Amino acid sequence: MPGDSHFPPRPTRLAHDWIASIARPGDLLIDATAGNGHDTLHLAQLAGPNGKVLALDIQPAAIQSARTRIENAGLLERVHFIQQSHATLADHAAPASASAIMFNLGYLPGEEHQLITTTADTLTALDAASSILKPGGLLTIICYPGHPGGDHETQAVLDWITTLSNHHWRIARYSAIATRRPAPILLAAHKP
Ligand SMILES: C[S@@+](CC[C@H](N)C(=O)[O-])C[C@H]1O[C@@H](n2cnc3c(N)ncnc32)[C@H](O)[C@@H]1O
Repeated sequence: MPGDSHFPPRPTRLAHDWIASIARPGDLLIDATAGNGHDTLHLAQLAGPNGKVLALDIQPAAIQSARTRIENAGLLERVHFIQQSHATLADHAAPASASAIMFNLGYLPGEEHQLITTTADTLTALDAASSILKPGGLLTIICYPGHPGGDHETQAVLDWITTLSNHHWRIARYSAIATRRPAPILLAAHKP
């Protein structure tokens, strides 16, 4: 809220809040970019003891970091880690099976920045995500136009998500403005 030192809210914070309003205990939830596991942990908490989280990351260091975070929280049995590109997402979940899917693009904080998400894999994964989501489900994507290569990927994702409106998805975009560097952008799409 205005006056709060955390205003404007971070895109990750808003994405977590929006996902929490959709996800129900027992659901299948997907983290397409597990990284250090902050988003995976949020999803594991929402999934409850009977739910399931798929957490994908192409980088061994990320899977290890995310696994440690989930293990420390005592929630390992809820999370299935997959060390593969999210371009393989369609191999891991059935159509209309997940109620929320999160993408947090860019690089793994604290690691070499060479290994960033790529436009081609991201778009393949987003196509898969759009069919894996259940009707009423929510897709969130955080893009980083300020990262090297991130501006091209962000524009491609914006173009991709805009086409969903032709199929009656409700879509939204959030970011801080008037920042020193291009601010991260949160995109969200609600499946009809
Ligand atoms: C910004 S980080 C994710 C942060 C994470 N969600 C968290 O909560 O800590 C982006 C992650 O995407 C991963 N990544 C890059 N290309 C990928 C791909 N093709 N498939 C899956 N993950 C990928 C990177 O290894 C990195 O860990």
